[in-house]
Amino acid sequence: MNYRVPRTRKEIFETLIKGLQRLEYRGYDSAGVAIDGNNNEVKERHIQLVKKRGNVKALDEELYKQDSMDLKVEFETHFGIAHTRWATHGVPNAVNSHPQRSDKGNEFVVIHNGIITNYKDLRKFLESKGYEFESETDTETIAKLIKYVFDNRETEDITFSTLVERVIQQLEGAFALVFKSVHYPGEAVATRRGSPLLIGVRSKYKLSTEQIPVLYRTRKMKRLDSSTCLHAVGDKAVEFFFASDASAIIEHTNRVIFLEDDDIAAVADGKLSIHRVKRLASDDPSRAIQTLQMELQQIMKGNFSAFMQKEIFEQPESVFNTMRGRVNFETNTVLLGGLKDHLKEIRRCRRLIVIGCGTSYHAAVATRQVLEELTELPVMVELASDFLDRNTPVFRDDVCFFISQSGETADTLLALRYCKDRRALTVGVTNTVGSSISRETDCGVHINAGPEIGVASTKAYTSQFISLVMFGLMMSEDRISLQNRRREIIHGLKSLPELIKEVLSLDEKIHDLALELYTQRSLLVMGRGYNYATCLEGALKIKEITYMHSEGILAGELKHGPLALIDKQMPVIMVIMKDPCFAKCQNALQQVTARQGRPIILCSKDDTESSKFAYKTIELPHTVDCLQGILSVIPLQLLSFHLAVLRGYDVDFPRNLAKSVTVE
Ligand code: G6P
Repeated sequence: MNYRVPRTRKEIFETLIKGLQRLEYRGYDSAGVAIDGNNNEVKERHIQLVKKRGNVKALDEELYKQDSMDLKVEFETHFGIAHTRWATHGVPNAVNSHPQRSDKGNEFVVIHNGIITNYKDLRKFLESKGYEFESETDTETIAKLIKYVFDNRETEDITFSTLVERVIQQLEGAFALVFKSVHYPGEAVATRRGSPLLIGVRSKYKLSTEQIPVLYRTRKMKRLDSSTCLHAVGDKAVEFFFASDASAIIEHTNRVIFLEDDDIAAVADGKLSIHRVKRLASDDPSRAIQTLQMELQQIMKGNFSAFMQKEIFEQPESVFNTMRGRVNFETNTVLLGGLKDHLKEIRRCRRLIVIGCGTSYHAAVATRQVLEELTELPVMVELASDFLDRNTPVFRDDVCFFISQSGETADTLLALRYCKDRRALTVGVTNTVGSSISRETDCGVHINAGPEIGVASTKAYTSQFISLVMFGLMMSEDRISLQNRRREIIHGLKSLPELIKEVLSLDEKIHDLALELYTQRSLLVMGRGYNYATCLEGALKIKEITYMHSEGILAGELKHGPLALIDKQMPVIMVIMKDPCFAKCQNALQQVTARQGRPIILCSKDDTESSKFAYKTIELPHTVDCLQGILSVIPLQLLSFHLAVLRGYDVDFPRNLAKSVTVE
């Protein structure tokens, strides 16, 4: 928002579009802006929305096609909002993209990052009050809700921020929101809970304060006066930039205020105030302006040197997002909205066939046993290409799952069409709303891991894993004999984000291990049972980005061939966890050490037995056997990353590989 800084409409467009382009690395499928539609008196302005499916460039081109908008018009005060979307509800198209609006007259418009988990209830309520919805998004509910609150206000002089305060009291889930309204021209309100939001401040003039005092509703909110606001001294020109990420605004200013959960920030007449309903537990009475010292590239990747590394470290969060709004830890129930209508049919099926390629296939291998246990159905796991090569028999009472991060992998898509032709029920498990696989399947689960940019898949794997476990849990809800087991697994899911953080804290130790290994030509990864998939996935990571030869070996097959590879020189990683395969893994360990092998062992913290024979150990926290693979794969992700860096390779873009393979 600019205040007393005259800007042409063209400059406003450029600022918004540039900001969106800086955020595009987080994924996009559609984008939109809301700006003031004409240049009349401030009070008579209407809001013009321009939205477009596709990337930000497509939106940029669309903007200049709007004849109604004179690019040279100058605004002394203007507030525009823009958003690039990565869909969680509703396919990517112009209607579902943001800003979402309250009504055809665009009285209130809003942009949103996050997920509103109670949006269905809110939507039902608003529909009963006569509000008509046009999109499939959770966000539209927010736009309608603020209009509802406004339409039912008890006093005429209700402030914009009070409306927003009332709205967020009704919202469950995660959000960062920015609102604009024709009823409050030249004003902006922003708020957050769970999703990041910051405000950049730029002014040539001295600012009134470096710390904005936070006002509390409980203290009977005072009328705002200058001492509680941030502004340029002497009512001078100032600009405020709201963004989910500093990369969007860093070229304008490096002076930023990070909002806390439930802060409501409002700008009116060039003054920024922050208020909240409840006092924070930490009770920080003010928000400081901070000066960022980072370069743009650095901000996009955070403190990480590669997207893959960032994505590995995002796993406590991405895993949580996969479960959010789906697992109820109080009632021990799981609800996957995209499957619930087909549950009966799935329960009656002949067998489950789980199909994918690369890492996605490994997620199927990793969860096969727990799916067999919880669904009590035969489960086949299939590599899509091989499944097609074999012309595998498929029947109409089969249920076929298609696991794919991108939702576009050609082999998986062809396998889907093959199964559809045979009338099986098809289920998509993808990270990409609106992708071919999510559109063409009968039903499905979005894993909600957030965009994954590194070619080597990491956070998508752990989220696919959890999605499949959640499916198993949903299937077994009525099985009395499985109730204890279900409780144990759900309990395990709850503590996963914290345990993942614990595993990530081993990074330095794993880096030291990489220093010892990076000149090797080969690396074997061995295990069995729940952790066989961990070995396959770990070896795939190593192959993909370090170009070392690596093989995931089923420890049960050791005697049938791989043992011949073992000697003093061959580096071997063994995954030995405290699970039903522990004793058998000990046998494999003996066989390796008897051939003078020097195993590096991934084991449980309390495992004193394995460590006796280990050349080195990486000790991991313990969780439920069927979830342990989520924790044990992370050291291998980290190891492959460090090996690749030490060998001097581009971690995010390995040679010969693509993120999304859309050819057979
Ligand atoms: C490519 C990628 C892999 C990925 C596989 C399946 O080979 O390089 O990282 O696991 O495709 O991709 P999907 O998007 O279907 O999960």
